[in-house]
Amino acid sequence: MPLNIIIGAQWGDEGKGHITDRLAHDAAVVARYSGGDNAGHTVTIAGEIFKLHLIPSGIIHPGVLCLIGNGTVVNPAVLLREMDALAARGVDVSPERLKLSGGAHLITPAHIALDQAHERARGKEAIGTTMRGIGPTYTDKARREGLRAELFADHDALAEALMAHVAAKNEALVGGYGEAALDGAAVAAEFAAHARRLAPHLVDGPLLVDEALRRGAMVLAEGAQGTLLDIDHGTYPFVTSSSPTAGGALTGLGVGPREVDRVIGVAKAFTTRVGSGPFPTELDGAAATRLRGTGEKPWDEFGTTTGRPRRVGWLDLPILRHARRVNSLSELVLTKLDILSGLDEIPVCVVYELDGRRVESFPHDLRALARCRPIYEMLPGWAEDVTETRRPGDLPDAARRYVDFVAAGAGAPVSYVSVGPGREQFIVM
Ligand code: GDP
Ligand code: IMO
Ligand code: MG
Repeated sequence: MPLNIIIGAQWGDEGKGHITDRLAHDAAVVARYSGGDNAGHTVTIAGEIFKLHLIPSGIIHPGVLCLIGNGTVVNPAVLLREMDALAARGVDVSPERLKLSGGAHLITPAHIALDQAHERARGKEAIGTTMRGIGPTYTDKARREGLRAELFADHDALAEALMAHVAAKNEALVGGYGEAALDGAAVAAEFAAHARRLAPHLVDGPLLVDEALRRGAMVLAEGAQGTLLDIDHGTYPFVTSSSPTAGGALTGLGVGPREVDRVIGVAKAFTTRVGSGPFPTELDGAAATRLRGTGEKPWDEFGTTTGRPRRVGWLDLPILRHARRVNSLSELVLTKLDILSGLDEIPVCVVYELDGRRVESFPHDLRALARCRPIYEMLPGWAEDVTETRRPGDLPDAARRYVDFVAAGAGAPVSYVSVGPGREQFIVM
């Protein structure tokens, strides 16, 4: 059994948590490979909602081992809070079940303060980050100044590293941004307490993954964010600071491409985005509210992590073709098909018009993307509620056609369709 990778095909929040939980049934290990608690993944089981930020969405399956991989950035305070909340609901988050790779980088209060200061300084050009310290932590990793989780096993080294880290960041915070200085000793004391609790969870992540693969078990890599938030293949600079794409799964877990079987792209039946940056099919007004909802239902389009209303628009096939290409997607999962029920007709962007020309592919240059106009094809809608549908043959004809149209336009088969947040609201195509 191989490595299967779950990837967000759009700008995040495609329903990766729901799909990971669903596919984790056959997995021995579920591993997060990139990002941090900027992610918010929702798993709904028998009406009970779990919001996960760092812990892999396989955790609700008792038999599954969960790994927070090397490529992630971890705020230990957030991780412990999430562990405590799950434990209080009867989920086993003991060191036997939940592992933290020693090579994961630590997010400190200084990183969070810097994220906020950077965003404030950018003013109108702000990225709209989740303010979780993600960018500054990956910056330190690339500068070779980061703190890795393995320090939890060495209390003296951790304290020394944190004192030096806070002193260096204070120079930037106070000198560069006129912000208040942080107290290095207080941060070191806080992290010493985190270390005592988290040290038993430390593991050599790549070794754990390799051992599972060698004994023939399936490892499910759970992506965070989405393809268009990838630092290389997204809408730079309006991206996150990591690689949510398939390549990031390999470096983030420490495995090579020969282990991979399926690369599963999760796409919403329409498009959403949180934060700033271009969005060709974006809607506003009543049409946007129709897709977003008003926040009454748990699945309405309001951020899982920040509560911000998500920007919404019609499905964009140039984006899905881009996701197919940069991830070598073997297939797609289409989520939230139920939200489209009741529309008379459904526009789908098939190509863009750029300076009077038709372009099939998603432009890498934001200036070109800003000039792209979506060209829509109108598909017939369906009136029926599909939330109870479990077999492809029971979908309304128009819904079936919508799914087939997406597969043909994206260039990848649709293996599963999700028709609600619940574990059972899932159709194997
Ligand atoms: P993720 O970040 O990709 O894991 O996605 P989020 O959890 O942030 O956002 C997806 C939201 O849609 C969550 O509230 C899910 O419970 C919900 N959801 C997932 N799949 C479906 C679906 O097929 N239909 C509906 N109505 N909600 C869904
Ligand atoms: P999941 O895993 C949606 C967006 C932020 C911002 C940009 C950079 O739930 O799909 P960052 O804090 O990462 O530096 O912010 O990326 N962003 C997400 N948008 N879903 C996410 O995660 C996101 N994680 C980051 O809104 O635009
Ligand atoms: Mg999310």
